[in-house]
Amino acid sequence: MQIQHLWIALLGLCSVSAQNFYDKNANIMELTPKNFDKVVHRTNYTTLVEFYAPWCGYCQQLKGIMQKAAKNLDGIVQVVGVNCDLAKNKQLCAQHRVEGFPTLMVFRPPKVDLKKHPEDRINLGNHASEVYKGERKLRPIVDFCISRVKNYVTRVPRLEKLATLLNDNSETRLKAVLFSKKDKISPLYKSLALDWLGAIDFHVFLNSKLKGSVSALDSLDGNFKEYLSKLQNTQADSESSLLVIFDPKSQEYYTYDSSSFDKTSVWKFLSQWAEPNEGSFTKRQEYLDDIKSGAKKPQKKKPNAPANQKQNLHDEL
Ligand SMILES: *[C@@H]1O[C@H](CO)[C@@H](O)[C@H](O)[C@H]1NC(C)=O
Repeated sequence: MQIQHLWIALLGLCSVSAQNFYDKNANIMELTPKNFDKVVHRTNYTTLVEFYAPWCGYCQQLKGIMQKAAKNLDGIVQVVGVNCDLAKNKQLCAQHRVEGFPTLMVFRPPKVDLKKHPEDRINLGNHASEVYKGERKLRPIVDFCISRVKNYVTRVPRLEKLATLLNDNSETRLKAVLFSKKDKISPLYKSLALDWLGAIDFHVFLNSKLKGSVSALDSLDGNFKEYLSKLQNTQADSESSLLVIFDPKSQEYYTYDSSSFDKTSVWKFLSQWAEPNEGSFTKRQEYLDDIKSGAKKPQKKKPNAPANQKQNLHDEL
């Protein structure tokens, strides 16, 4: 009789502790072999994966940190959990040589060569994985992940170079230039470059460099020349950033001069000019959102609910 009770109590404990940590978490996806490949490898995003077991004490300690990290990394690095205690996941964990819990791994995409024709870019292969061996604290984890984001943003060093860049219409891609007082490339800006990879090229240009001589703009004609000469006066000493999309084919430009550089607002602006491959409102994002919300159940779509409305650490360009 008593033994029976003990068993029931134990079973109860087991079923509770076997629960996934991150079901229904808005920022972390619980993955299985069914979706792991598609979520982790079929993207230009970097992914942080935690292989864990619900009964493990270190995993329980890390849980809160992971939730915060995922919130911080929202829209910049994907965050994923794999419950290695589930029978269906055991092989996936073994395949990644997970020997202790938790194991944090970062998956990095191969660099896309945009000079190559799109058709020759397919089959880029799997992401490279790397075990995170740093401190299991919020800041170090977040910083490490961000350091592993592929960067497609280039700095334009001088006004002459900017003119050359805008003159070059050999590519059909639009050119985004962020005129900024700092030449640090923010994670958010990098993530936009990932969303529009192959559709818009992203650059940064220091406000102060606009002060170069007027003749630096000689190679440009018409519309762009006039606009940049104007910027030499209005933007060179500015403390704020200005995002401009240049279309070298049509010689049109479009400016984003809102003070709010959160991802959703900039996203809306950019999507007027080119369609993103990844990120908010894309097919892929819908797929990811379904995983986050616990899959299977039919989802009510809120068409205009931006995915990243909440401010986080990286809400600036
Ligand atoms: C990454 O972006 C490039 C350029 O848009 C695209 O050709 C490629 O398919 C993307 N890679 C993945 C794995 O989605």
